[in-house]
Amino acid sequence: MFGAGYGGNKVRKLEWLLADARARRRRAILTAGGLGTNFGLATALYARELGIATEIALVDQPRDEHVDVQLERLRAVATLHFTHTRARTVATLALLTARATLRDRRTPYVLGPGGSSPLGALGYVEAALELAEQVRAGELPEPECVVVATGSGGTAAGLALGLALAGLPTRVIGVVVADQLRLDGRMIARLARRSARLLTRRGAPLPPAANVAAGDLEMTPEFLGPGYGYPTAVSEQAQRVAREHEGLVLDPVYTAKGLAGALAVAARGGGPVLFFNTYDGLSRRRPGAPA
Ligand SMILES: Cc1ncc(COP(=O)(O)O)c(C=O)c1O
Repeated sequence: MFGAGYGGNKVRKLEWLLADARARRRRAILTAGGLGTNFGLATALYARELGIATEIALVDQPRDEHVDVQLERLRAVATLHFTHTRARTVATLALLTARATLRDRRTPYVLGPGGSSPLGALGYVEAALELAEQVRAGELPEPECVVVATGSGGTAAGLALGLALAGLPTRVIGVVVADQLRLDGRMIARLARRSARLLTRRGAPLPPAANVAAGDLEMTPEFLGPGYGYPTAVSEQAQRVAREHEGLVLDPVYTAKGLAGALAVAARGGGPVLFFNTYDGLSRRRPGAPA
């Protein structure tokens, strides 16, 4: 379905979310995020391919080169509203919804931060099932845990549900990188259960093991530092290690902190530890390198 050339973890969610928006014949999408929102950018790029316009309310986050580049890209594909704070964002979204409804004569498709709805999380149920398939095929050892950066929870929730469905005992460890949302084990498990209920409603027979509980997950705020978008010494170090040893480009907001968490978990011993890279894989391509 997709070809806009932007990767990362949002695309898996958007496969479900944009299909739903299209099935409901929506003409506009409204969403919100930080100034450098990956989700907003991915949404706008792929929605545009479907002829759907995107408006994004933007909350402040620390400005750096990464954010400035993201903003430039966002300006090119979406209508932006600089709402600064969470409270103003909520109020503005209500206003924008009313305006779009009048304009398009139908309600816009409203996506919460990061697309972490029960439907969006299904993208990561699929990812976990693919991972289980790779383990079964002997392409990688069964991980003791999967470590993933967590900003709105859909990725961690979907992975937890998918791993449970696949019957893998692999534990999900979420490295919390955002401070405006509640992101503890209970919240993630609740989202996983809502996704499971959605599957059941759509006719998928789920085994009892698919009931994800808070205790099945570990959520750690240890790598957040001063807050969303603020780099820390260990996240910068992890970013450097990834680049120098693996040629892997990580973003400073999510995956640098995620890898810092994964390295700390690996240092505890045990394993294998699987770091789930959620950043745009296409960013790995160096300028001038063949596509
Ligand atoms: C690169 C990257 N990794 C991880 C995440 C976090 O995923 P989730 O919002 O599902 O917790 C995001 C969310 O924007 C992201 O852009």
